[in-house]
Amino acid sequence: MSLLLIAPNRDMNVWKESILEVDPNIDIEIWPKVKHKERVNFAVSWRHPKNVLNGYSNLKAVTSLGAGVNHLLEDEAIPEHVKLARVVTSSLKEQLAEYVLTAVLNYRNHTSRYVDQKREGYWSPHDAISKKDCVIGIMGLGEMGIEAARMLSNNGYSVTGWSKTEKQIDGIETFIYNQLNEFLDETNILVCMLPLTSETQGILNLDVFKKLKKPAYLINVGRGAHLIEEDLIYGIDTGALAGACLDVFEEEPLPSHHLFWNRPKIMITPHIGAVTDPKEAVAQIVENYKRTLSGMDLINQVDKKKGY
Ligand code: GLV
Repeated sequence: MSLLLIAPNRDMNVWKESILEVDPNIDIEIWPKVKHKERVNFAVSWRHPKNVLNGYSNLKAVTSLGAGVNHLLEDEAIPEHVKLARVVTSSLKEQLAEYVLTAVLNYRNHTSRYVDQKREGYWSPHDAISKKDCVIGIMGLGEMGIEAARMLSNNGYSVTGWSKTEKQIDGIETFIYNQLNEFLDETNILVCMLPLTSETQGILNLDVFKKLKKPAYLINVGRGAHLIEEDLIYGIDTGALAGACLDVFEEEPLPSHHLFWNRPKIMITPHIGAVTDPKEAVAQIVENYKRTLSGMDLINQVDKKKGY
């Protein structure tokens, strides 16, 4: 019985140590130097290369290191019977909510213009965008979306939300699936916090941007594939959007020749909106490892049909 850690761009020794602090008896392998594939029952993955989980004949469950699980659902090498889970912690929720709040404040106060102006040694004040022109519409009212909605609302913003199933959140007007147009009609700042599924792929498109209340702005902390990239550029160039703040991209790292880099109205961060802290997440991971060994359902288990 063993647990496999697999995340090409992260130092998994830190995770190993944190797991061993919770339970020193767990046998841990770190990809790619796996000694006994057949002993692996449980894998912890962050964006592993597709197909490398092939040949783990006793694999029973895989957990994402983060809240997103599309990298697991998209990997056909993970057999249907293997259970999937995600990690949700209070710090992940808080980090992402703070990221969104920061993006809103940066937009309202022209932060990136002042950074550019400083580089040029150029003094020129701009009127801040008033709060009443910043109705924030959150797409996706899962645990992360609800936390962001609450934080923004507590900071005095008018917040609305759109979700697949009906949600009731104090002080927040909510819309369901077939009320997308009504939701967009009231929204200035559109925030994507949706899971990536076949229904939500490409949902951030020109048609949607045009329906937003003006001035309109986009914040994407979902996944790159939610956004039709050329529609964003066209939307900004034609005034449907005043700009955008993006933390996720179709291709990551964003290639150096990508058109977004040279667009002053597009703020770019390298997928840092919410980064899982090993200390906070290991209890959940160890619990799920033990549940897997006893054949139980997992904490934060993914519904494969729903895709989240
Ligand atoms: C980050 O993108 C995550 O899914 O946790």
